[in-house]
Amino acid sequence: MTVNTLEWHRLDPDSEKLLDGWLTLSTESADTSGYTPPPCPVDLVGSVRFAPPDTELEDWVVCRDGAVVGALRLALPAAAPVIRVDQLLVHPNHRRRGIGRALHERALERAAHHNRSVLSTTLSAALPDGPPVDETPAAFATAMGAVPSEKGAGIHQWLDLSEHDPLAAGIPPVPAGYRLVTWGTVTPDEYALAVSTLEQSLGGEQRSDGEVETSYARRFERMRIGRGRRAYHTGVLHEPSGQLIGYTSISKTTGNPEHALQGMTVVHVEHRGHGLGRIIKLANLELARRHEPRLRFLETTNAEDNAAMIAVNEALGFRPHDRWVVWNRMC
Ligand code: ACO
Repeated sequence: MTVNTLEWHRLDPDSEKLLDGWLTLSTESADTSGYTPPPCPVDLVGSVRFAPPDTELEDWVVCRDGAVVGALRLALPAAAPVIRVDQLLVHPNHRRRGIGRALHERALERAAHHNRSVLSTTLSAALPDGPPVDETPAAFATAMGAVPSEKGAGIHQWLDLSEHDPLAAGIPPVPAGYRLVTWGTVTPDEYALAVSTLEQSLGGEQRSDGEVETSYARRFERMRIGRGRRAYHTGVLHEPSGQLIGYTSISKTTGNPEHALQGMTVVHVEHRGHGLGRIIKLANLELARRHEPRLRFLETTNAEDNAAMIAVNEALGFRPHDRWVVWNRMC
C-alpha cells in the first residue's frame, strides 16, 4: 500500500458512514490497559458537532478501500497562533506504512492555510515512580520534528474509590461566613457570571465585560450537553457579600458509568487558606456519587507547578499517574 491510495475526507457530522468508521477506528485503537475507559460514542459524535468555546475544530479521516484507517483532529484556538493536534491516529493494522506521516503533512498544510506558526500536541510521559508509557507517540513526534516543551506540563492523576474513599472520614465543617450551594449540568443564571469570571481568571482580577463572561459559561455548557455529558457542581457563597467565590466541577460521559472527570476547582484569591478547596471537592464528590452510584474512577490533571491543588488531591487519595507534556513544531 502507498499513501497515494488513501482517500481524504473532512469528517462531516452528517455523514453516518464516515462517523461510524471513525468510531470503529477510535474504539479499535483505544488503549484501555490502565484506568482509561473505552471511548464513549455519544461523546465522540457530539465532539464533532460541538467545539469548545473560542475554538474551531477540523476533523479529517483517511480511508482505504472504503474503510477509515486514520484520523486527524485539529483545534484552532481563537487567541493563539497555534494549531493543536488533538487526534492523529492510525489503525493498529495499518501502522508503519507512512499514514501517520501523511496525516502530519496534512496538519502542516492546514497550519499554513490558517496562518498558524506552531503545531502543538500533548503527549504522555512516564513519571519516575509511575507506570511505563507507550513510547511510540514520542518517537513519532520526534521523527516529525517536534520537541517537548520545558513549560506547562500537567500531572495526570487518578483516584480509585474502591481503594480509597475520601468521604469515609466525612466532610469538614464549612467555615463561618460561607455556605455551600450545588447545581447540575446547567449553571443557574445567578451564578453564571461568577462562574465565568472564576473560570477565566482563576480567582485573580475580576473582569469587567459581564456579557462575554456569561456567554463563556453558557457556551461551555452547550458543548458539554452536546457531547451528552452530565456534570455536578458545588459552589461556595461568601455570605456577607452574597458572592459565589469558588466552585468545583465533576463531569462524565453517558457511556462510562464508572468513570468521571474532576474538572475545574477554583477559590477566589481573597478567600484562600480556609480549606474551602478541599471542602467543596469532597461535598461535590458526595453529590456526584449520590446521582452516579456506579462511579469508581476519577481522573484529573493539574499544572505541575500547582503544588496547592496537587497536595489537596493527594490528601483526597488521587495518585499521580503520568505527566502530560506539550510538544511543539514550528511550521
Ligand atoms: N517506534 C519508533 N518510531 C516510530 C514508530 C514506533 N512504533 N512509529 C512511527 N515511528 C516514526 C518512524 O520514524 C517512522 O518513520 P519510518 O517508518 O520510516 O521509520 C515515522 O515515525 C513515520 O511513521 P508512519 O509509518 O508514518 O507512522 P504510522 O502510520 O505508523 O502512525 C502513529 C504513527 C500515528 C504514532 C500511530 O502509531 C498511532 O496512531 N499511535 C496512537 C496515537 C498517537 O500516538 N498519535 C501520535 C501523537 S504525536 C503527534 O501528533 C505529533
